[in-house]
This record gives sequence, structure tokens and C-alpha cells, in this order.
Amino acid sequence: MNAQPALATAPLPPLPHWQSTPADLPGAIRQIKAALRARIAASGRTVEEVFAVVEWRIRAQVDEIAAARGRGETIWPVVDYADIEAGTVPAEALDKLRQRGCIVVRGHFDRQQALGWDRDIVDYVESNRFFDNYRGPGDDFFGRVGSKPEIYPIYWSPAQMQARQSDRMARVQAFLNSQWKHESHGVRWFDPNRDSLYPDRIRRRPAGADSNGLGTHLDPGTLDLWMTDAYQKAFRHLFDGTVEQYDPWDPAHRTAGPQYPGTTMCSAFRTFQGWTALSDMDHDQGVLHTVPIPEAMAYLMLRPLLPDVPEDDMCGVTVNQVFPANETWHPLLMQALAGIPDVKAGDSVWWHCDMIHSVAPVRNQQGWGNVMYIPAAPWCPRNEQYAATVRDAFRTGSSPGDFPEEHYERSWPDRFQPDDLNTTGRRGLGLD
Ligand SMILES: [Fe+2]
Repeated sequence: MNAQPALATAPLPPLPHWQSTPADLPGAIRQIKAALRARIAASGRTVEEVFAVVEWRIRAQVDEIAAARGRGETIWPVVDYADIEAGTVPAEALDKLRQRGCIVVRGHFDRQQALGWDRDIVDYVESNRFFDNYRGPGDDFFGRVGSKPEIYPIYWSPAQMQARQSDRMARVQAFLNSQWKHESHGVRWFDPNRDSLYPDRIRRRPAGADSNGLGTHLDPGTLDLWMTDAYQKAFRHLFDGTVEQYDPWDPAHRTAGPQYPGTTMCSAFRTFQGWTALSDMDHDQGVLHTVPIPEAMAYLMLRPLLPDVPEDDMCGVTVNQVFPANETWHPLLMQALAGIPDVKAGDSVWWHCDMIHSVAPVRNQQGWGNVMYIPAAPWCPRNEQYAATVRDAFRTGSSPGDFPEEHYERSWPDRFQPDDLNTTGRRGLGLD
């Protein structure tokens, strides 16, 4: 069924690209859709044929996940930190990680260490009167002063920095980075053994909380994924008749290109998004879900080219908003949505940077839901460039460039200091 037809040998027509956000978005969408269709057609296949190949492959994964669910299996692979450290992660677990694109690392940090960090963060924000001064969400003009947030726009606590520069974090990041093919075409796209210390925030959701959660979405980019030269090269196999060769673990052309700016952007290239649990969380208490199929990105990228989508619409993707995934355009994918198992403080949770994810709603949450967001963002040209702004933010206690300009910590005396950096921290910031 998947035998690849003989391909046309003539050179494929080039694609137009926009290295910054197009002024006329609907016009650019119409233009890129026509060009992508023409390129696929010139390869000797139709968009429908190419999409059918992807759909067939994804459907096999969706069926496999449904069967595993039926057998009562945990969909998210789980590995012990001790096995990562000793290099003894079982082959089946590695296969499952590559297949599902997500993983829970048990005992990444000692539970008492994680609970201690959670208390340290509370002390840090309370001693600096954060809740008295809180001005509301950074992107909401009408946020109330003094209300307690769930997402703390706090980046430079000793607890966060200790976790980011720890040997245990570096080991897990290197393990995850090495699942990617970091060298190809004679280029070393990133250094799997050096992280760029991407500073992100904290979530602390108290017991008893009601939350609507977060809808299914993905974070690697928006229209730039179709419209910039670098991403067109990264996703080349989807558009040149060789869709069978598309590899979600190939970072080629992803580690240097520009991104369209927006409040939801991530300037860094992340192999995996991730967080470390600072409280115990049960699987039914408003936790993270993913569509655990890395190849689903091919489906998401090709779906807008089918004829039932309006000509100036990319299945709802637009700049300055997260990339939505939903029942309207992606019902097959939604069937596979799977939540994390119960986690303990000190466990960490990771998912491939292209994967659809959501946070389930919860009413009257049992126990706290506290996490530190720490991804795997290996050293590469794109991350080296962002590290320069991170260094400045670190020195001054400012909010990093990807986040709203809130700058709560600038006057806080007990934030993490340059003298406290170890070798990993210095390398992560590009200081060594
Ligand atoms: Fe997200």
C-alpha cells in the first residue's frame, strides 16, 4: 500500500517564502497553498495521495494506542532516572519513547529535594511580597492587582536555577536530545550534550482549584512552519513527493531559522518540552495530555492543503496564537489523546516539541499541582542567539525575551547570583 510511485525527474517548482510575518496573511496563505500543491503535483503525486499515506500511518498508531488502552496499559512510556544514569534503559522502553514521543522519568530528582524546592519557591516569592505586588497576567491590561496567579512569572529563583544546572537535569536532557538525529547532511545541527538553559516559569495550582485547563495545541510555530525557507526545508519530504521519508526526529534546518514573533513564540529550538513535578499529582487531577504520535505533525502540515479547507485558512493556524488541533480538522488525531500516569514530586515529564498537548480541566482539585517548566533545548545557532538575551535577563533579574515584560525579580536580593553558576550553568548561558 505504501509503495512509492516513480517520481517525476524534473526539478520541482520553488516555493515562495516570507522571512518575516507577511503583511497580507490571507493572500500569503492562498499563495503558499497553491505553491505547495503545485510542488507536490510536480513530484508525480497528488495532495490526496500524499495525505492518504500519512493518514494510513497515523491510523495504525491510533489503533495501536486504542488496543493498548484496551489491554489496560499505560500509554506514556515510563523510565527510571537510575537507568538513564547507568545507561541501562531497556530497549523496549527506548522503542516506546521513539514511537510515542513522550516519557515520564521516575525519580529524576529525589522527592524530598523537589518538595524542598517547592517550599523554597514559596519562601522566595513571599519574602519578596510577590502576591502583594502581582499585577495580573502580563498580557491582560485589566488584570487585578494582588490576585494570586497559578502561573508565576518567576524565572530566577535559586530552586529553578539549581534544577536547570544540575547534573541530573543535564543527563536527562542529553538522553532525550540523543533520540534525535543531531548530525545529517554533513552538518551537526546541535550539541546533544549541552543545554541552553531556557528559562521558563512555575505553575502552582492549589488544592481545591477549579480550572478549565488548556485546549489541544502545539508550540513549535505557526504560519512560519509553512512560509519560511528554513521550515520549508525542514518539512521538505512532505512537499516533494517523498513523504515516506519524513522523520520527526530529524532536526535538519530547524536550528537556525527565524520565527514569526508573537506572545506564544519560543525563540529556542527544543527537542522536548518538559516539566519537573514539585508536588504529587494523580492522573485525573487536571494533568497534561498529549497525542502521543510524533508523525502527527505530517498530518497537521498537510491537512490544510485538502480541498475542503477554505483557500485562505490553514485549519485555524495564524500568527500570534498557539497552533490549534481540534475535532473539526483533526478528529483522527484527537482519538489518541492520552494523559500522564500519576506522578510524584521529583518525577519529570517530556514530550516531543511538535506534539499536540493539552491540560485537562479539573474541579475541586485534590492536592497541589506544582511544576517547574524546564525543557531540553540543546546548544545550536538559534539557541546560542537567544542565550545572549537570556544572559542579560539573568544579570538584571528581568523576564526573558520570550515572555511578557513583568520583571518582578529585578529588585529581589535573594535571586540566583552569577557566582552560584556551576560549569553546566555557565555553558548553558554561553559564558564559557
Ligand atoms: Fe503548550
